[in-house]
Amino acid sequence: MKTVLITGANKSIGYETAKVLLKQGYFVYIGSRDAGKGEEAVLQLKAEGLTEAKAIQLNVTDPESVAAAARQVDQLDILINNAGISGAFPQPAATVDVGVLREVFDTNFFGTIQVTQAFLPLLKQSSAPVIVNVTSGLGSLTLHSDPSWRFYPYKSAGYGPSKSALNAYTISLAYELREAGFKVNAVDPGFTSTDFNHHTGTGTVESAALFVAKYATLQADGPSGKFFSNDYEDMGNESPW
Ligand SMILES: NC(=O)c1ccc[n+]([C@@H]2O[C@H](COP(=O)([O-])OP(=O)(O)OC[C@H]3O[C@@H](n4cnc5c(N)ncnc54)[C@H](OP(=O)(O)O)[C@@H]3O)[C@@H](O)[C@H]2O)c1
Repeated sequence: MKTVLITGANKSIGYETAKVLLKQGYFVYIGSRDAGKGEEAVLQLKAEGLTEAKAIQLNVTDPESVAAAARQVDQLDILINNAGISGAFPQPAATVDVGVLREVFDTNFFGTIQVTQAFLPLLKQSSAPVIVNVTSGLGSLTLHSDPSWRFYPYKSAGYGPSKSALNAYTISLAYELREAGFKVNAVDPGFTSTDFNHHTGTGTVESAALFVAKYATLQADGPSGKFFSNDYEDMGNESPW
């Protein structure tokens, strides 16, 4: 049975993505920084008949937690780096508290890299390894430079740049793993109604989850080193960097 690990899967987009993949027959590790919330999520899934899920305590910013999680997993085909934070808003470039930026980068950028490195040895044993880095359209430098873009005024000195950095990392990682059969992509679930944005998002978690799951289950002929967005169907869902 193919095995998936999703970070920050105790709720919202991560949780819904777990549901989609469980329904498709995958075994899913529900990463949660709070062990209790992870167990609760698994109970909820089991109550819906989705039994092939297991909670795993995983705080992406805590090296010991990440290492302990990696020791508990003995097979992994798909890693979905979903855990992310926005940090306190607003984040004006001229005056933002650098401490907030450090906190955001610690989770969205360094945390994601830490988890990826910890699980790469296992992924390398898979016959078809996949990594999805859950990013945001707000990480696109090209779109942020285009005054006609619908989110052009949504500037932030911390959150957006943390996802731009994650995108850059994704490109490097995809390049490095290109001959090892990996699919590594940056995937933007779209502006989705979750706790993340106090439910101001216009998309549903179901749509976001289907989109993330699509890139988590790419076949051998699928793309790698690309940036896909659920917000840009008109562009074939491929986003400019
Ligand atoms: N919602 C949107 O419109 C949108 C758009 C584009 C991209 N995204 C991205 O999609 C991903 C999921 O967002 P969401 O809307 O589902 O957010 P959410 O509702 O805030 O859920 C975030 C999840 O990440 C977990 N998390 C946060 N910090 C963590 C850490 N240090 N270690 C492990 N888990 C941690 C949270 O755990 P707790 O429950 O313990 O807090 C929660 O499970 C994020 O990467 C976000 O940047 C979201």
